[in-house]
Amino acid sequence: MRLVSKWLRIVGLGCLLMGAPSGYAADGSPENGEEIYLKRCVGCHGVDGDGLGPGAERLLPPPRDFTSGMFKIMSTAFDGYIPQDQDIFKMIKLGMPGTAMPGWQDILSEQEMWDLVAYIKVFPGYDEEEPGAAVEYVEQVPSSEDSIAKGKELFLEDDRCSECHGEDGKGNAIKRLLGDNGERTWPRNLTKPWTFRHSNNPKDIFTRISVGIPGTQMPSFADPASKKVLTPEERWHVANYVQSLAKTSEAVNPENTVIKAARVDQAIPDDPYDEIWTDALPSTFFMVPQIIAENRHFTPSNDTITVRSIYTPTEIGILLEWDDRTFSQPGDEDSEKIGDSPLYEDKVAVQLPVTIPTGMEKPYFVMGDRDNAVNLWRWRGGTTSEPEAVSQISATGVGTGVELDAEGLMGRGVYKSGTWRVLFKRSLITESEDELQFREGVFIPIAFFAWDGSNGESGTKHILSTWYWLVLESSSSSVPFLGSLLALILVLGLEFLWVRSSSLQEENH
Ligand code: HEC
Ligand code: HEC
Repeated sequence: MRLVSKWLRIVGLGCLLMGAPSGYAADGSPENGEEIYLKRCVGCHGVDGDGLGPGAERLLPPPRDFTSGMFKIMSTAFDGYIPQDQDIFKMIKLGMPGTAMPGWQDILSEQEMWDLVAYIKVFPGYDEEEPGAAVEYVEQVPSSEDSIAKGKELFLEDDRCSECHGEDGKGNAIKRLLGDNGERTWPRNLTKPWTFRHSNNPKDIFTRISVGIPGTQMPSFADPASKKVLTPEERWHVANYVQSLAKTSEAVNPENTVIKAARVDQAIPDDPYDEIWTDALPSTFFMVPQIIAENRHFTPSNDTITVRSIYTPTEIGILLEWDDRTFSQPGDEDSEKIGDSPLYEDKVAVQLPVTIPTGMEKPYFVMGDRDNAVNLWRWRGGTTSEPEAVSQISATGVGTGVELDAEGLMGRGVYKSGTWRVLFKRSLITESEDELQFREGVFIPIAFFAWDGSNGESGTKHILSTWYWLVLESSSSSVPFLGSLLALILVLGLEFLWVRSSSLQEENH
């Protein structure tokens, strides 16, 4: 077995080497490229390459108009505008995460992708011009504590990067940024490398800082005309710092679907930033835009939520944490300036079933169904005239929500440096039949909804997760029902795939 696979690898490698592209689209045929383009790319980029394909509507960022000649992810030095063939090739191959631009490496051969490079260059007439010189990397400075510290200083100096990316790099803008075509753009949240259009390896970050991202407000820091210009060595320090910002303990771990609430002895404090939370295990989950019920959402500004939970003999605390670039407080002048209008409040909700399902059956994950009611604990951030507030909603399907008494429910939010933390607290057991009763050692389905009020999110326009599990870890039995847990995880995984793929299909329409 092992021999065979080794042999295959060698043959594979041989093929790769023989067919290795020299790096120029001179190897590509624009005629073949056109054929592939008409089959694969016109849906978004349009027959004429003008970005006006039938699927273009609703996409943000919009599909590129190739006739404009503007390419965003480029390694040509800042004073040139024609990308290297390799740059176009890489974008076709890998796609652009965080946008609708898919990667084609599993579908097209290398040769077909070079053919596409040759064809795409025809739209702006770049088939007849040479690209400018590529960025000079001089000598890469390896990452080290010292380099990262220097990078951080340069990042913050004169607000060089923090002006747009925020002090901690979360992209919490202090001003409204538009792309060249007047479309809203958000500075990247540098702590979430999976949202980078290209990658967060230091060399790619170095390239982005040197070139900027054409068509957006991300500037070049190699341009001597810039007051905030950086030498190549300084750019390496900044690149090392940016790479070090990637979230680690709070990144999504797809294998973790269970929030484990540990039992604590002291009462749960009201402050979402109380020290008690440093020991609570974080679980981070993906969120997708709501596209199932009417008034769908296609342009989310966030994609994850981190959850922690602890409980005492009498009450439970659920702490939600998510990055939100904007503090959205209707009536507040700064919020109104940055946010889309109308400006709504930021909100978040925890969804729980009313009764814990005994088998695999769970309520429908968007607001429950006729046979399986859900409760939503909802917190809203308030306006300048109304304080933050919690409410409790009971629902048996989209549009069926009725308000329940929320007297026993506490919700408190704090916004700091691009991140919301909201703490919900309730007694484990209540008198109401319409509310979930928490018990130790039981797998409780739990899902999350969030609204970014500066991004037009209100009502059914929001992001949501599928069902995950919450377990109040009992002090006695440590790992309950492992077998059934695995089966449940499987079901959950499928549901999640379905949510993601239907959201992609919608975008592709
Ligand atoms: C589902 C829609 C969709 C399809 C299909 C699609 N693209 Fe794109 N493409 C986009 C979007 C959206 C962008 C702009 C992303 C941005 O501006 O950040 C883009 C950008 C690009 C870019 C610009 C890269 C850069 O650095 O600026 C290239 C090149 C490209 N697409 C090539 C292709 C090719 C070739 C195909 C077909 C094989 C294709 N696209 C199919 C949506 C699509
Ligand atoms: C004037 C605002 C502004 C400043 C200043 C700025 N950026 Fe950006 N940056 C942006 C915007 C906007 C984007 C997202 C562009 C887009 O829509 O693709 C971005 C994107 C990025 C990306 C993402 C690259 C990718 O592959 O997706 C990195 C990395 C980055 N910036 C680093 C920096 C660093 C480091 C600095 C300081 C040296 C800096 N930026 C200064 C606005 C800015």
